[in-house]
Amino acid sequence: MLYGFRDVYEGTRMATEEDLPGIRKIIWPLEDSGVLVRRTDEELLEALESFYVVERDGSIIACAALFPFPEEKSGEVAAIAVSEECRGRGQGDKLLDYIEKMALSLGLEKLFLLTTRTADWFVRRGFSECSIESIPEKRRKRINLSRGSKYYIKQLQPKHAGVTANNFVPR
Ligand SMILES: CC(C)(COP(=O)(O)OP(=O)(O)OC[C@H]1O[C@@H](n2cnc3c(N)ncnc32)[C@H](O)[C@@H]1OP(=O)(O)O)[C@@H](O)C(=O)NCCC(=O)NCCS
Repeated sequence: MLYGFRDVYEGTRMATEEDLPGIRKIIWPLEDSGVLVRRTDEELLEALESFYVVERDGSIIACAALFPFPEEKSGEVAAIAVSEECRGRGQGDKLLDYIEKMALSLGLEKLFLLTTRTADWFVRRGFSECSIESIPEKRRKRINLSRGSKYYIKQLQPKHAGVTANNFVPR
């Protein structure tokens, strides 16, 4: 979308291969510090079609992935991250809203995630801790138990998704 203020362009969209360097720049330090699971370039490329990015003036300032599990009407939010310079100004909020809206548009009814350190942020946004049984079985099998992640889930409510419609660009 276009922001009138100083003509700064900012928008949220699906990631493309050209965004890989920008995504890496944001998530690498978080992988190094153990906040995010390490992904090889190959894994990232494979998962790219599930990634969304926020671009501002040609730079990627935030990213997140939504992995749908249609059979369970559930989706995983993963690798949600805002570049360090842009944190604390609602970007994370906006991106999560976008992911929720996207999940709803895919017919999903709930979102889940695994986290080791960011639980409070998600709890303040309507997620609550759940047991591993709430995670779709296919995903459960791939969980790296040694990370000691906790599991969180949120039921999505179509009428109250809290999304500002103008940052939602369906494809
Ligand atoms: C978590 C993250 C995506 C939030 O994005 P953001 O744009 O900074 O968040 P917002 O501006 O929407 O919200 C900021 C609020 O969240 C709080 N917050 C930020 N990180 C937090 C964390 N790790 N745990 C709890 N609260 C956190 C801030 O203190 C702020 O609180 P306030 O509104 O009361 O001042 C961002 O901080 C980030 O990239 N963190 C590192 C990656 C990460 O932890 N990802 C989740 C992996 S499961």
